[in-house]
Amino acid sequence: MIEVRHISKEFVSAKKYPGLKGALKGLVSREKTHKLAVDDISFHIGKGEIVGYIGSNGAGKSTTIKMMTGILTPTEGTCLVGGVDPCKNRRKNAANIGVVFGQRTQLWWDLPLSESFTILKEIYDVSDADYEERMEFLNRVLNLDEFFSQPVRNLSLGQRMRADLGAALLHNPKVLYLDEPTIGLDLVVKDNIRVAIKEINEKYQTTVVLTTHDIEDIEELCSRILIIDHGKLIYDGSLAKLKEQYGTRRKVIMEVPDPARAAELPLHEYLTVSKEDYEIQTDPAGSTVTVAFDKNKLQVSDVIGQMMQHVQVKDIRVQETELADIVKAIYSNGV
Ligand SMILES: Nc1ncnc2c1ncn2[C@@H]1O[C@H](COP(=O)(O)OP(=O)(O)OP(=O)(O)O)[C@@H](O)[C@H]1O
Ligand SMILES: [Mg+2]
Repeated sequence: MIEVRHISKEFVSAKKYPGLKGALKGLVSREKTHKLAVDDISFHIGKGEIVGYIGSNGAGKSTTIKMMTGILTPTEGTCLVGGVDPCKNRRKNAANIGVVFGQRTQLWWDLPLSESFTILKEIYDVSDADYEERMEFLNRVLNLDEFFSQPVRNLSLGQRMRADLGAALLHNPKVLYLDEPTIGLDLVVKDNIRVAIKEINEKYQTTVVLTTHDIEDIEELCSRILIIDHGKLIYDGSLAKLKEQYGTRRKVIMEVPDPARAAELPLHEYLTVSKEDYEIQTDPAGSTVTVAFDKNKLQVSDVIGQMMQHVQVKDIRVQETELADIVKAIYSNGV
């Protein structure tokens, strides 16, 4: 459905100097700054996939989405969406896609929401019958009825986001681009939006590309993720594989009467492993001891068993590496 081949985007802007003198210098200077926001990225997304596109601030996510929607032209490379080049054939591409930018609305600010939908119906040439069916579905999953007659400017952020998502879906696009669709929303509305996306994907096999900083969006919706860092694609694969690769760390946290003594225990001798295979730490407050290890090297049950034989353990908690930690580590160290 989406075929991106070696696309790059370089932004060129006039170099800025500070102060009034600087502004004048900027006017006459020919110096330019170059910013390679997207650097030779390729990927393929099949019909019906929900793909999470993640990366830290300024990594190049929105720029990629803008090239896939035809808003920006790539400096190099090509992109095909449903067989259409979004830049060369914007009108045909528009019929195939729906876009939601969480940061700003696509709706007419002063018009009642219902009017925006009527206009979109005309723009996308949606038949009366299709419109009825679509609205019934959108009302059910997004509860648009609640505020359908209100002007968009009066809507709360959560209502506006539901309205924007509904508007992007009115013409039943094959591909839905969502750039931070849950930004600033409360937990209930976030959940509504996620359920709606899931349902739309299942019912219509809509392909979804989602950028987000909310790891829960990814966990709930995406089976595959692309990670971009400084314009380069550094990971393309399943969420499960990423977790398998990086999520094998376990922590056993135990409440014990004498953590300092527990931390001295020669676990490696009891378990006949090397000292490097685990780390043992006490917390500053001094009531717990933590054993951290790779689950491929040590068994959680063995660690707990040995500790319980040698010290009195009052409470135990086992912690897995969370996806948020994995992503944080990747953003700061690369894959
Ligand atoms: N029109 C532009 N002119 C110059 N530089 C730009 C322009 N648009 C984006 N950039 C730069 O390109 C880089 C990538 O920006 P982009 O908006 O794609 O990041 P992002 O991954 O969406 O980040 P965020 O998570 O903050 O939304 C940034 O360094 C940004 O400053
Ligand atoms: Mg962005």
